[in-house]
Amino acid sequence: MALTILTGSSRGLGAALARLLAGRGGHLVTVSRGGSVELAAACATAGTHHTHLTLDLADADAVSDAGLMLADVCTGHPSVRLIHNAGVVAPIALAHQLDDLGAINQTYQINTTAPIFLTSRVLAGSESATDRRVMLISSNAARSPTAGWGVYCSTKAALDQYAEVVALEQGARLRISSIAPGKVDTDMQAELRAADPERFPAIQRFIDFHAGQQLASPDAVAERLLRLFDSDQFGQKIIDDIRHYPS
Ligand SMILES: NC(=O)c1ccc[n+]([C@@H]2O[C@H](COP(=O)([O-])OP(=O)(O)OC[C@H]3O[C@@H](n4cnc5c(N)ncnc54)[C@H](OP(=O)(O)O)[C@@H]3O)[C@@H](O)[C@H]2O)c1
Repeated sequence: MALTILTGSSRGLGAALARLLAGRGGHLVTVSRGGSVELAAACATAGTHHTHLTLDLADADAVSDAGLMLADVCTGHPSVRLIHNAGVVAPIALAHQLDDLGAINQTYQINTTAPIFLTSRVLAGSESATDRRVMLISSNAARSPTAGWGVYCSTKAALDQYAEVVALEQGARLRISSIAPGKVDTDMQAELRAADPERFPAIQRFIDFHAGQQLASPDAVAERLLRLFDSDQFGQKIIDDIRHYPS
């Protein structure tokens, strides 16, 4: 039975991925602070075994416990897939305004250290699996700077380089890719449009993306991501961008 673990399943891109995965059977483990009654119902209808972990990825002790649980859940599954989608963009501020150490650490933990730790536990628990895949939802921010995103860009750049290291270590035993999803119409984009222009000089660009209908729908992006994730192409490019594939 295939096992898929998805973080950030409650909203935005993650909720769209979860809706598609709910219809596939096997075992789906979703992770976020919020849950979804609709997702649970969709899994029940499709006969997909669903486990939801209510977890704050900023809470180190809770992430540590979740890692143990996930390693256990992986045991014995021939196919194990992990999608790290949960992410936050705050704190949005220029370098000299980044004065809240706790906020910086929190974003590092959610965007970078929790994915590294949970991947570690999934790899440890899935050694006997014959098909192992990890998709890290990265961002164009990892590869191109935006003023006000010192924390966000650096967390995503770290994820990209982490994927390169894991690919080097695991070779044929794992397919891994750190993939940018493009601009997606979610709460995160709304947060950017509502940011303080004093801290986010690029704000007008994001207002224009929205006004110009340049944001893709979460459902369309989720569909493309899963098509790639399922294919033999997945993992051939470790640092990737879904916009490089046909829609
Ligand atoms: N939207 C874009 O244009 C865009 C562009 C490039 C990359 N991305 C990346 O795509 C991914 C999804 O973004 P999105 O736009 O869908 O964001 P979103 O709408 O803000 O949703 C974020 C998801 O992450 C979860 N999350 C946030 N903080 C969490 C925490 N402390 N613990 C557990 N889960 C947490 C949220 O769940 P809860 O709040 O229920 O915990 C939610 O399900 C992110 O990694 C983002 O960096 C997005």
